[in-house]
Amino acid sequence: MDCFVSSAEGAVPVRIVTRDGLEAWMQQATTAEANWVRVHRFDASPARHIVVPGRDGGIGQVLVARAEPAGQFVLGDLQGALPEGTVVALADEPEILQANTLAIGFALGSYRFDRYRKNPRQPVRMVAPQNADMDRVAAIAESIALGRDLINTPAEDMGPAELTGAIADVARANDAEIRLIEGDDLLDQNYPSIHAVGRASHRPPRLIDITWGSPDAPKVTLVGKGVCFDSGGLDLKPAAGMKMMKKDMGGAASVTALASMIMRTGLKVRLRLLVPAVENSVAGNAFRPMDVITTRKGITIEIGNTDAEGRVILADALAEACSESPELLIDMATLTGAARVAVGSEMAALFSNDDSLAADIARHGAQVEDPAWRLPLWQNYRSMIEGEVGEISNSGSGPGAGAITAALFLESFVEKDIPWAHLDIMGWNNSARSGRPKGGEVMGVRAIFSMLEERYGA
Ligand code: BES
Ligand code: MN
Ligand code: ZN
Repeated sequence: MDCFVSSAEGAVPVRIVTRDGLEAWMQQATTAEANWVRVHRFDASPARHIVVPGRDGGIGQVLVARAEPAGQFVLGDLQGALPEGTVVALADEPEILQANTLAIGFALGSYRFDRYRKNPRQPVRMVAPQNADMDRVAAIAESIALGRDLINTPAEDMGPAELTGAIADVARANDAEIRLIEGDDLLDQNYPSIHAVGRASHRPPRLIDITWGSPDAPKVTLVGKGVCFDSGGLDLKPAAGMKMMKKDMGGAASVTALASMIMRTGLKVRLRLLVPAVENSVAGNAFRPMDVITTRKGITIEIGNTDAEGRVILADALAEACSESPELLIDMATLTGAARVAVGSEMAALFSNDDSLAADIARHGAQVEDPAWRLPLWQNYRSMIEGEVGEISNSGSGPGAGAITAALFLESFVEKDIPWAHLDIMGWNNSARSGRPKGGEVMGVRAIFSMLEERYGA
């Protein structure tokens, strides 16, 4: 992480203040400093900061306001708030949890995607807080940066091969076991739905399957939608809808980031990560509306719409995930536009067959400012995905409830007794917020990691 340094020499002190803290600071400040803060109307309202000049006209110190309790992103705006190359150091050493949180927030706000456009600006750097566990900070911040990179990379350079390659790199770095099934081997090994969706692309579909950890540890399985580009298939998307579809592997990127955190921090689990990676393309051999696919689980899917492809590839991945009865099964996917209509783009829509799991994810999400809001698996709406020729249709007959019918579809491929959560995510920050630059985002990852740490932490 190039946004941290170890030497505090010449660093600008950053003081984190609440409203009460600001009062106390004013008491001990010089008249000039106190006046400066007053004329700029800095009142320590949350998310604001002020640069206070020193005697020589340089940057003397920075005051950053924070809410009570302190959030994840107190320092999330610092990168853009100061002149390039500035080195900052916390004026007061926080206790360990707080030091980690602050450092992670600063690192997340320092993320930039510079693969194609180098940024000549020198980063603002922060002296690593003494109490911070910088290995942990790096494990979390670098995993998130990796996930963001995967989403931000254009589809041309992030096809099924590149996506599975990136996941294999993470696996190798952590001594995980890798199994990769590619192209027609998917048919031989009975993953018909992944093959059907991906077969029209000149870049063959794949399933990557990695396992890590002690075989005796509780089994946690993650599944992510890896549609490297979603043209809609023969039910082609219009231009506006297609434009951002390089992000349709946002679920895969999110579970990859999560897996990377789990492995790097050594949670006591036996982890499995399953990512079906395809491109939903148009060609003579594309799957068609009203085709029927006999899935791995044996359930037949009637294709109502080739643009509802995510749930189709997830069907085979979820069925395989259930074959070893994990203690916990979580899937993440940029599955529906309807979830965005329901909860907007700042939070995940959460579905679960297990009330305590849903409550845990929601609670941790609120704690770490990575919100997930539960929607119901409303069983009455199952009639909307009833097939005519096949058993289940991949497009709800409507009206409405598109995120729910998609989740109900997935539920058909999950064994009832396995605690399962499904996060329908945006995968993208439409505008920058503190610690969350505009562009690719791994949503729900910090929430779930926080929950897993509570359950399986050392
Ligand atoms: N990847 C899209 C969903 C999506 C669109 C997520 C925009 C985030 C932003 C998915 O494959 C899709 O096209 N879903 C359709 C389903 C419909 C055809 C039943 C949708 O949501 O419109
Ligand atoms: Mn689609
Ligand atoms: Zn899609």
